Amino acid sequence: MIFYFSGTGNTRWAAEQVAAATGDRLLFIPEELKGDCHYNLTSREPFGFCFPVHGWQPPHIVRQFIRRLQITSPFALKAHYCYALVTCGDSIGRTMEILSKELHRKGLALNSTFSLTMPESYVCLPFMYTDTPQREREKLQQAEEDLQQYKELIIDHKRDEHHTRRGLTPWTFSHVFGAYFNARMISDSKFTVDADRCIHCGKCQQVCPTGDVTLEAESTDAEAPRLPHWHHDDSCTNCLACYHYCPQHAINYGSITRKRGQYYFGHSKK
Ligand SMILES: Cc1cc2nc3c(=O)[nH]c(=O)nc-3n(C[C@H](O)[C@H](O)[C@H](O)COP(=O)(O)O)c2cc1C
Ligand code: SF4
Ligand code: SF4
Repeated sequence: MIFYFSGTGNTRWAAEQVAAATGDRLLFIPEELKGDCHYNLTSREPFGFCFPVHGWQPPHIVRQFIRRLQITSPFALKAHYCYALVTCGDSIGRTMEILSKELHRKGLALNSTFSLTMPESYVCLPFMYTDTPQREREKLQQAEEDLQQYKELIIDHKRDEHHTRRGLTPWTFSHVFGAYFNARMISDSKFTVDADRCIHCGKCQQVCPTGDVTLEAESTDAEAPRLPHWHHDDSCTNCLACYHYCPQHAINYGSITRKRGQYYFGHSKK
């Protein structure tokens, strides 16, 4: 069983590769959250958690899922092989330690941890940009090689394998910068749409994993164009899928992203 989350497709690609190699079920966390998050196991099925790093921590939606997760098994839960594979643009800080603590509360022990450095998706701060085409190619090539090695370790249920890029001063990044980022900056309040650019295609609504974006008419006039609206209901996990997938670059986060590139797995626009 592989529980995964992905906004812009990097982690989806990695999780699909692992699922193809192991034959494990692939479950998308936003869909699972619509159910009771209760899993009744009958075999010694392994667990994988795959997600992007957000602010050197697991994303809000992943933590919410783990808090609701209930697993029952005829075997001791710790007998199930449990691993995490995360993707990041640069470094993961103490993401795995934070995840491990959350899983421990559910009776699960995190046996092995892996990270892949992949093209950057965060563009909402002054110093954050998508990668250059060359850097993107280099990261993807390295990620393919790393993933090949990780898949072999996962297939063999290898324990105590830790292949992650934690970066410099992981504690400070996760528990100071990341803590501030995750407490204060995960919000849909700064999203706007440029009505002159929008072609009302509905892609933003379709790709939003949490159902936070819907196309709505601007007036009661039947001919009125429908534009994206964000619900401001705390469901946004800031994955930036709505921003990156828009074919018109009509969505912005504050004013800063107007001149930023767009990226999703398999596609980039500089
Ligand atoms: C809100 C947000 C926060 C991010 N924080 C980090 C981070 O702390 N460290 C990092 O290396 N990359 C960070 N990134 C980059 C993503 O982790 C990376 O691009 C990831 O592969 C995206 O995965 P996805 O395409 O499956 O959504 C962040 C991206 C977003 C959208
Ligand atoms: S994806 Fe872009 S162009 Fe399409 S409806 Fe949304 S904002 Fe408009
Ligand atoms: S509103 Fe945009 S950033 Fe927020 S969860 Fe939906 S797609 Fe992701």
